[in-house]
Amino acid sequence: MKDQLPEYVRKQFPALKREFNGHPVAYLDGPGGYQVPESVITAVNHYLIDMNANVGDQFETAQNTSTIIQDARDIFADFFNCSWEEVVFGANMTTLNFALAQALVRQLTPGDTVLITELDHEANRGPWLQLMDRGIDVAEVAMDIDTCTLDMEDFRNKLLKKPKVVAVNYASNGVGTISDVQKIIQLSHEVGAIAVIDAVHFAAHGSIDVKKLDADFLLCSAYKFFGPHIGVMYAKKEVLSQLAPLNLRTQSQSPPYMMETGTLHHEGIVGAAAAVEFIANIGLKFGTDLDEQSEDLKSNRRTQIISGLRAFENYEMGLTEYLIEAIASNISKAVVYGPAPGHPRTSTVSLTYEGYTADQIAKYLGNRALFVWGGHFYAIRLVERLGLLDRGGLVRVGIAPYNNEAELVRLIEALQDEDALQKFVTTLS
Ligand SMILES: Cc1ncc(COP(=O)(O)O)c(C=O)c1O
Repeated sequence: MKDQLPEYVRKQFPALKREFNGHPVAYLDGPGGYQVPESVITAVNHYLIDMNANVGDQFETAQNTSTIIQDARDIFADFFNCSWEEVVFGANMTTLNFALAQALVRQLTPGDTVLITELDHEANRGPWLQLMDRGIDVAEVAMDIDTCTLDMEDFRNKLLKKPKVVAVNYASNGVGTISDVQKIIQLSHEVGAIAVIDAVHFAAHGSIDVKKLDADFLLCSAYKFFGPHIGVMYAKKEVLSQLAPLNLRTQSQSPPYMMETGTLHHEGIVGAAAAVEFIANIGLKFGTDLDEQSEDLKSNRRTQIISGLRAFENYEMGLTEYLIEAIASNISKAVVYGPAPGHPRTSTVSLTYEGYTADQIAKYLGNRALFVWGGHFYAIRLVERLGLLDRGGLVRVGIAPYNNEAELVRLIEALQDEDALQKFVTTLS
């Protein structure tokens, strides 16, 4: 059973049946958004057919909607390891983070500092940079450009400014670096800062434990881990309760509802919960560590989620090593950017290819049904610091649990075929 994980997983994704230009599509664009398993599609359909209603009324479907959203909060409480009152739903991570920044700024005074990083996606930079209009000083932690990791010495130095907020990503969607957020949060708390963690890229690649991390806010997006396009935020209850977010007088002023403006994306929330259940189900079926655990733990959803993510991570890491090694030995014109071997990372591998822009490579690969991204992926500061912004950025290959070695072999063969690449590029206007 255990060695059948890739076969089992692939069967769950109807999108994998797609063909393009006569080839099966290899979705290597996971960091941009994952494909969705059948169980998520069924859950969304079921909601829209059988329960579709607004919340807050007495009739059956409205009551069912309230129940199913509460169930989703419980599921995400297991996902984050928190209470359901700390689970906030929203349109996407960026919108939630803007709302959070606008709420937090009400507690700040001009001259206060917010720390952001060069490694972060713009969604965890822009909302804070905008606070400069309100007199807030925004300082940036440098990235070490050789290793694409945060410069921890610079971070410690910037902490001397006694920032009120530290906004850092858990993992980089640009190059896959996983940062030591537990340490970062601990150091931030020592100077009295609130820690805001962008876990959008990380969430698909490892389990999150907000209690262990002691994060104040942690944001992710369900569409990056098998779900529909919604954002989910963990908000520490005692910190959220102190905030005055922008909201309506008709809205509940208690956590988590105080951060949720307007009608929520019900079907998205239902699908997001089904995505977490999909992960838990993988844990139950394939988690090797569950073998050693008691029956009690086996029936515990959080344990299953952790196991499922670990099973995915083990599988993805094998493919990641294979890909990095295959690029190094077969494609002399490619340069891989990212953390040094041994540093914690995700299965996101980014590269440049001498003589061609990332956009040209992505179009060429896309034409062969190898769907990868080229550009800056909104990690624009990182790409700029690598000196690649004017040169078209990076080609990003994201390995998801539904990808397999055969797809990576196709990728390597395509990159090796320089004649075909050159010919294709001449057809681009
Ligand atoms: C690391 C990271 N942070 C934030 C975001 C923004 O997420 P959303 O699209 O949900 O606003 C992304 C999306 O690509 C991301 O990869």
